[in-house]
Amino acid sequence: MTSFTFETTPALINAWGAAGELGSLLAGRFSARTALIVTFASFVRSGRLDPILASLHDAGFETQVFDRVVADPPEALVMEAVDLARQSGTNIVLGVGGGSSLDTAKLVAVLAGSRQPIGEIYGIGKVRGARLPLVLVPTTAGTGSEVTAISIVTTGESTKMGVVAPQLYPDLAVLDAELTVGLPKVHTAAGGIDAMVHAIEAYTTRHKKNPLSDLLAVEALRILAANLATVCHDGADRRAREAVLYGSTLAGQAFANAPVGAVHALAYPLGGHFHISHGLSNALMLVPVLRFNASAAAPLYAELGEAIGAATSGDIAERAAAFIRTIETIIESAGAPRRLGDVGVPRKALPMLAADAMKQTRLLGNNPVDVDERDALRLYEEAF
Ligand SMILES: NC(=O)c1ccc[n+]([C@@H]2O[C@H](COP(=O)([O-])OP(=O)(O)OC[C@H]3O[C@@H](n4cnc5c(N)ncnc54)[C@H](O)[C@@H]3O)[C@@H](O)[C@H]2O)c1
Ligand SMILES: [Fe+2]
Repeated sequence: MTSFTFETTPALINAWGAAGELGSLLAGRFSARTALIVTFASFVRSGRLDPILASLHDAGFETQVFDRVVADPPEALVMEAVDLARQSGTNIVLGVGGGSSLDTAKLVAVLAGSRQPIGEIYGIGKVRGARLPLVLVPTTAGTGSEVTAISIVTTGESTKMGVVAPQLYPDLAVLDAELTVGLPKVHTAAGGIDAMVHAIEAYTTRHKKNPLSDLLAVEALRILAANLATVCHDGADRRAREAVLYGSTLAGQAFANAPVGAVHALAYPLGGHFHISHGLSNALMLVPVLRFNASAAAPLYAELGEAIGAATSGDIAERAAAFIRTIETIIESAGAPRRLGDVGVPRKALPMLAADAMKQTRLLGNNPVDVDERDALRLYEEAF
């Protein structure tokens, strides 16, 4: 058997309505009682933080709320949250929100009790020392941040940097799909497709492909493919919301240990230059990259096809083509925008995007097929 390493968040609680019982869930697991909740403003305004705060107070926690997280959190915002944690004597950090809130919470837990400047921790394995206790409660289904050791920060006008370190796995992730009800349709679709990309890219990665990630990726893809259209058409469907959140967590566990490739590499410049969300950027690039990768990944695509109900007759190439067609149908039925031209990207920007994508060397190295700048331009043109 090939040797491999697999890491994940040590505890998951998956229960509809669990957020309203967070206090009792945490009181037995942690001795810390001074909590900082890292979240986003509209969540607080909508009143959805209230039951969470009430349950924490009932269980003896003191709480501070940092509610200024925005999409693609800038470094200065992360440091504001770190300062609040330091001033308020925080000894446990709770992230409640989408990937942006969870990623911010991770860095707060790492930096609040540390002297390491944030500029020193970008990259892989640069975080020194222990962090504060950390609990993550996703309100979107897509990034899988609750089970990854990654945090993505916006560091310049159009650049994002990642912190990758084992300290970023939280102690506990609480999956309460009720919190994802009310997520707008376009974000539901984009997040679900992002999670499918995590599963597909983990399964086909050139580095660190491993049997546990494979298991998780196949199951994630099966669940996501079966439920995405339903959740996009009826956001209040409890079973579909639960399924998609669970599927996105499984996909997160898969790609945390078998890293993503060219779809993500080509998606990042779209977010950086045109503020297209992470999920939507991935949704836009997925099909062109699948077609491009088929030259090497066809046998794996043929295997994945079985999980999503694609035709299983014919040779490998035919089955891989059926897989890609099925993915395309799922994306269409989710109703997310399909073309770069539909989301405000001008054709003349494509060469600049292709040049920028080449900087994602870490991700490109995981892709089953090498991608040079000419290939990247062709892929953006296909997505246009
Ligand atoms: N850590 C990782 O492993 C990882 C992986 C992929 C992406 N990311 C990062 O995650 C971020 C994207 O996260 P995201 O896609 O979850 O979105 P997000 O956290 O940026 O939130 C997107 C929008 O949805 C709103 N929102 C969130 N939950 C809601 C709810 N339940 N109801 C209504 N509105 C809600 C937010 O206010 C925000 O406007 C990016 O910064 C990306 O780089 C991290
Ligand atoms: Fe992603």
